[in-house]
Amino acid sequence: MTTLPERSTAQWRRLDAAHHIHPFTDPQRMAARGGTRVLVRGEGVWLWDSDGNRILDGLAGLWCVALGYGRHELAAVAERQLRTLSYYSSFLDTTTPATIELAQKIAERTPPGLDQIFFGNSGSESIDTIVRMVRHFWNLEGRPEKKILLSREYAYHGSTLAGASLGGMAGMHAMSGLLPDVSHVMPPYAYKYGRGMTQDEFGRRAADALEERILSLGPERVAAFFAEPVQGGGGVLVPPPSYWPRVQEICRRHDVLLVADEVICGFGRTGEWFGCQTFDIAPDFMNIAKAVTSGYVPLSAAIVGERVARTLRDKGGRLAHGYTYSGHPLACAVGIENLRLMAAEGLVERVRDDVGPHLQRCLQEALGDHPLVGEVRGVGLMAAVELVRDRAKAELFDPPGEVGLRALDHCFDAGVTCRVVRDALCFAPALVITRAEIEELAARAKRAVDATAKAIGIL
Ligand SMILES: Cc1ncc(COP(=O)(O)O)c(C=O)c1O
Repeated sequence: MTTLPERSTAQWRRLDAAHHIHPFTDPQRMAARGGTRVLVRGEGVWLWDSDGNRILDGLAGLWCVALGYGRHELAAVAERQLRTLSYYSSFLDTTTPATIELAQKIAERTPPGLDQIFFGNSGSESIDTIVRMVRHFWNLEGRPEKKILLSREYAYHGSTLAGASLGGMAGMHAMSGLLPDVSHVMPPYAYKYGRGMTQDEFGRRAADALEERILSLGPERVAAFFAEPVQGGGGVLVPPPSYWPRVQEICRRHDVLLVADEVICGFGRTGEWFGCQTFDIAPDFMNIAKAVTSGYVPLSAAIVGERVARTLRDKGGRLAHGYTYSGHPLACAVGIENLRLMAAEGLVERVRDDVGPHLQRCLQEALGDHPLVGEVRGVGLMAAVELVRDRAKAELFDPPGEVGLRALDHCFDAGVTCRVVRDALCFAPALVITRAEIEELAARAKRAVDATAKAIGIL
């Protein structure tokens, strides 16, 4: 059996620099810092790097490792499935038991009317699938002019052409341009756009921005609005309570399909199984990925609501769409066991009632009054610490991002990982994190923010 060679960190770094292109990484910056960091092992919420440092994973990998690292139950079902049937396709009329079973298990948890599951491998693919289904739906309904896809500034919906276009990240648009017929509206980012307004006023204002855009483009041309219940990759932008009810009402009134991207929010992150349940959203589509397998193997799904599913079934004929690995039995077997463990261990309720509020409280206590911090915000087990240039004037750094990257380095030095979005440090640890580990996370985050503040002369 092949085992990975024992190499020193310096050797891994040399090989990495020679052959490996990292996603979302500036190779020159990485080289200047000495090269890649190599993670070699994980247990619970803890990671070990190739120098033997023990690091608290404050982001559950990339918002995905819900059950934490090293779960033998997931390894065991993976091995059993690989021995029994390593692969078969779901094209044409075939599929596998694990594929059917996971579709049913997901449908059991989703909001009413959302029980038709189309599998893919990544969140990006699930977004592409929905874009194609949205266009197909309106064509089948005899309204081919309904083509425009709306989403929000700072949205993240993946890295394929459709995902990057729907995303509201200027740097991604600059790399390869935008697909036509995509338009971005203001997000419910209260710290940036809601000055001088109450939460309630700002929530309604942000929703009205959507309606204004629909009206200016012409409702007869607008096909769908894509949005995460809480924008995770946008910096954990938690909408005010007045936002979602109004958005939903606007979409219904103008017959614009509503797509809830649950890639981060899904499976407990917000304290319910789905962000749609936390915010009482009834979308036409949902898409999921990440925590459905706790990131142990890639799996995603587009979840199609009743209205669209009926049209596809009754009028659509053969679906001209699919991936070789749609419904891969290995990923589905791991997904089934992952969902069983999440339910058996009561992890979703634990986020809602215990560790979620504890994370928000601890970060607030550690950093809420820090001179470098504008606000600490979050819901469930996801939170952001917004670093700002001037706390009193609520002034963000301009240009954004440089201080955030420095803070990320300080986080690693303090032994905690996070995701930096512009200058916001985002935390979303595994759902199995303990209260003591949350306190440790907050203490390490504080050390990192202190060190950043000192380095830029604010402390
Ligand atoms: C909300 C959301 N949608 C889509 C994606 C894309 O998922 P993937 O990276 O698996 O393609 C992500 C990734 O972080 C995401 O956060």
